[in-house]
Amino acid sequence: MAQKVRLGKTDLYVNPIGLGTNAVGAARLNPDLDGELGRDIIRTAVQNGLDFLDTAFIYGPRRSEEIIGEVLKETGKRSETIIATKGAHRFEGEDVVVDNSPNFLRKSVEDSLNRLQTDYIDLYYIHFPDEDTPKAEAVGVLKELKDQGKIRAIGVSNFSIEQLKEANIDGYVDVYQGEYNLLNRSAEKELFPYMLENSISFVPYFPLASGLLTGKFNQDSQITDARARKPHFQGEAFIQNLEKVDQLRKIADTKGVDIAHIVLAWYLTRDAVDTVIPGAKRPEQVLNNLKTLEVNLTEEEIQEIDRIYS
Ligand SMILES: NC(=O)c1ccc[n+]([C@@H]2O[C@H](COP(=O)([O-])OP(=O)(O)OC[C@H]3O[C@@H](n4cnc5c(N)ncnc54)[C@H](OP(=O)(O)O)[C@@H]3O)[C@@H](O)[C@H]2O)c1
Repeated sequence: MAQKVRLGKTDLYVNPIGLGTNAVGAARLNPDLDGELGRDIIRTAVQNGLDFLDTAFIYGPRRSEEIIGEVLKETGKRSETIIATKGAHRFEGEDVVVDNSPNFLRKSVEDSLNRLQTDYIDLYYIHFPDEDTPKAEAVGVLKELKDQGKIRAIGVSNFSIEQLKEANIDGYVDVYQGEYNLLNRSAEKELFPYMLENSISFVPYFPLASGLLTGKFNQDSQITDARARKPHFQGEAFIQNLEKVDQLRKIADTKGVDIAHIVLAWYLTRDAVDTVIPGAKRPEQVLNNLKTLEVNLTEEEIQEIDRIYS
């Protein structure tokens, strides 16, 4: 199994290939997904050396955290697993509002602890910024919870660079999670340099661009799920994206690996990135993505991938 990596300045050490569990327990994202399939995905992960699970209150909602709690209990893998979860979404009737207020964050952490059947959360993120709460105050609450031993590290997600700077005014932010993939490299401009200066680890979400960067689509693919609404799956952009993926295919074929492996391996060559959390809808995908650990990209290949997507 791979050498573990340290997440930024935290005391968390993880396998560089983690698992995003957005689809685990979320019928909206995967109509075929029942509780048992969700459990199988987590079970496969933790029984094969994957020790970094990324979840959130809103995945399911609640079900992803609950399933993780159930499987970690069943497998006895809690102490070996690093759990990252997130909160900020509050239901008001049918509506969901974003809330970073101190009391709501305190309650959200308690609720996550219960659903995960644990007495500490390794990494807790504020999932989205709200409009009202001063960011340093919101992160201050997480620091309080860290001092109490309820969480081990502090994260924020989807914050602008300005919001991140405000949140990190006391240096408490350990991890930042934001969208980053070969199709959207905007984080490289301002966020990555800030991460490096402040020893914050950047965890990219949508690393496979929702499957587009695995090379499994072609011009005849019938896309009928939520992806059909995403711009990079539409019209001319989709065709150009397929052409670029074909260039990746050549590199992958030369190495005898899958496209997803070289894509995930490439992210791990970025200075600000310690770990990636590809999502999975089936246990086989978890096992497949773990094969990334066997891939070593040459300097030439790293630059070639950079050039294709520059
Ligand atoms: N902080 C945030 O606001 C935020 C937002 C979004 C996501 N996230 C996190 O980031 C994680 C990753 O994002 P994501 O799951 O939405 O997108 P992703 O990682 O870009 O794509 C995952 C999807 O690609 C397909 N796939 C995965 N491995 C594959 C393989 N080896 N071969 C072929 N297809 C494969 C699967 O879908 P199909 O089988 O249907 O093709 C899977 O659901 C989430 O699970 C979540 O934990 C966080």
